[in-house]
Amino acid sequence: MVSIKSQSEIALMREAGKILAKVHEELKDAIRPGMSTLDIDRLGEKIIRGYGCIPSFLNYNGYPASICVSVNDEVVHGIPHKDHILYEGDIVSLDAGVIYKGYHADAARTYGVGKISDEAAKLIEVTKQSFFEGIKMAKDGNHLHDISNAIADYCESFGYGVVRDLVGHGIGKNLHEDPQIPNFHQRRRGIKLQKGMTLAIEPMVNAGTYEVAWLDDDWTVVSDDGSLSAHYENTILITDGEPEILTIL
Ligand code: MF3
Ligand code: CO
Repeated sequence: MVSIKSQSEIALMREAGKILAKVHEELKDAIRPGMSTLDIDRLGEKIIRGYGCIPSFLNYNGYPASICVSVNDEVVHGIPHKDHILYEGDIVSLDAGVIYKGYHADAARTYGVGKISDEAAKLIEVTKQSFFEGIKMAKDGNHLHDISNAIADYCESFGYGVVRDLVGHGIGKNLHEDPQIPNFHQRRRGIKLQKGMTLAIEPMVNAGTYEVAWLDDDWTVVSDDGSLSAHYENTILITDGEPEILTIL
């Protein structure tokens, strides 16, 4: 069942989203070579709690941290560790979620650490742009898979592999609600989009194959061929006009 949010719920999700956007800005400014992925998690948790929010990922299905920190060929759900140091030239995906007055916001960004290669920068940029290509279709009366197909078309035009084993999702009182939102080609058109739906759209894009594998920690998802991977996610609201992106400033 896909929930339609009331005006008062939307107001709370807007606040959650603005806070999460600020969390991401502050984390972006903090990234330096020599930091550990655990340093990022510690800082992220502190910032989230400082805004009076709860980090929604912490202990979610046993996930042990507040921020998913995924480096280079790690796609998503990297577990922060004090011995995992960021080096100049790495790319790092930060995925974070907050709960504010009972409502969730979820967003992810990928950044370069210091100076990065042109190939890495292009992957990050295309992944981000694919989200914007997707939400051009996120309009009342369109169908869900119009978004999926637009994301897939855009990424595949660069020869990239769009991850299939993980998808975006509805969001609200829960981190994961219906519907699932694939980022790859769909034959069926999916549900009709309606004003008041709140969706977390999150393309995960590999420079090489779309296939992924799981590390022995049971969380960290990596590209199967070891190629670089990027992630970009926002929580959005379907309106009767243009979609509203809740997790940007
Ligand atoms: N953005 C991710 C998702 O929607 C974050 C979940 S990570 C977890 O699935 F640790 F909370 F599981
Ligand atoms: Co998500």
